[in-house]
Amino acid sequence: MKMRSLTVLGSTGSIGRQTLEVAAQGGFEIVALAAGNNVDALIEQAKTFKPKYVAIADESKHAVLKDALPGIKICTVLEAGQTDADMTMAAIVGTAGLAPTMEAVKRGKTVAFASKECLVAAGPLMMDAVKKYGTTFLPVDSEHNAIFQVLNDGQGVSRIVLTASGGPFREWDAAMIASASVEQALAHPTWKMGPKISVDSASLMNKALEVIEAHHLFALPSEKIDVVFHPQSIVHGMVEYDDGSFLAQLGPADMRTPISVCMAWPRRMTSPGQRLDLSTLSRLDFAPPDIHKFPALRLVRDVLAGVAADSIIFNAANEVAVAAFLAKNISFGGIVDTVGRMLDTCHKPAINSLDDVYACDDNVRRTTQDSLKKVA
Ligand SMILES: NC(=O)c1ccc[n+]([C@@H]2O[C@H](COP(=O)([O-])OP(=O)(O)OC[C@H]3O[C@@H](n4cnc5c(N)ncnc54)[C@H](OP(=O)(O)O)[C@@H]3O)[C@@H](O)[C@H]2O)c1
Repeated sequence: MKMRSLTVLGSTGSIGRQTLEVAAQGGFEIVALAAGNNVDALIEQAKTFKPKYVAIADESKHAVLKDALPGIKICTVLEAGQTDADMTMAAIVGTAGLAPTMEAVKRGKTVAFASKECLVAAGPLMMDAVKKYGTTFLPVDSEHNAIFQVLNDGQGVSRIVLTASGGPFREWDAAMIASASVEQALAHPTWKMGPKISVDSASLMNKALEVIEAHHLFALPSEKIDVVFHPQSIVHGMVEYDDGSFLAQLGPADMRTPISVCMAWPRRMTSPGQRLDLSTLSRLDFAPPDIHKFPALRLVRDVLAGVAADSIIFNAANEVAVAAFLAKNISFGGIVDTVGRMLDTCHKPAINSLDDVYACDDNVRRTTQDSLKKVA
């Protein structure tokens, strides 16, 4: 494979680190690395991968970065999105990734896309930019990556199916789920991920966000996007065609596989991740999710039937509520309750630009925080 240049936005996170592990297999030169505030990890990565640029959102860390990395230019996170890299991995958690990811899309090259919250908040704007700039936009999320691999030309699709492990609370009753602890929510049975997405997986909010992500990525209406519980996390996504055929992608529960798919696309490369051992697989289970136990899956259908601001509220209220849960200020059940309350009460302006997204997002975050202070 020809040497490809790569920028990693969110390099110190779970996806970012695994991306660098895949890149270390060879064939990639690193142009820029960007992080939020973990300066020690960023310095270590920069010493190993020798990028041209490093960026850190926390400006108080600039001096430390500069001292530790003579010869490497310090830039802003936004500028890290503007490099001329052949490929940008967009893996900043939350809507903080929106502006730099949009900058990478505008370069018209390849964007491997993990930051689902950005697509949820600004899906129509981002997909318009992908079309306008002719960007190759590759889904990293395992379910979307699976569907991307089996979607052919998108003709004759009856529906797509996103699989969900069901998280740590699949077998729990609603009352136990509502009072689950932070430690219990972080203990995902099959995937090892960052804290925000682990909590989202436990509440099934992650799957709800993925339904919105799939709606934008594959231009499909809500009724053609299904969710099914599949506790083994082996089948990551399926497409059912009009003739009754199902095409599915199988693989280990290891993000290094979809990351490798994106990084080598349209070719294939050897992933440093685990392999699937078919001899140890005795069964594959599928079951419909219980939307009473996991109300995020019900709320998302209302969001897709609503206006653009609904998605922003859904995402931003969830980010604030998850942070409050991780700080042990609200209960686990309080997360989706808060999101539902914000969908009922927040102002829903028209969304025509990124500025509109930011204004709506700011307002929702403030309103959610105020509402949680009142509850506390
Ligand atoms: N982990 C998975 O298996 C997985 C699977 C599918 C999709 N995703 C999606 O991928 C994204 C990343 O998830 P993750 O699990 O890798 O999260 P994570 O482990 O929490 O890492 C988040 C990354 O974003 C960086 N960051 C945070 N705020 C920033 C800012 N303002 N500017 C620049 N960088 C910032 C963090 O930097 P610091 O380390 O310095 O804070 C870190 O590098 C999320 O959208 C998630 O939903 C993840």
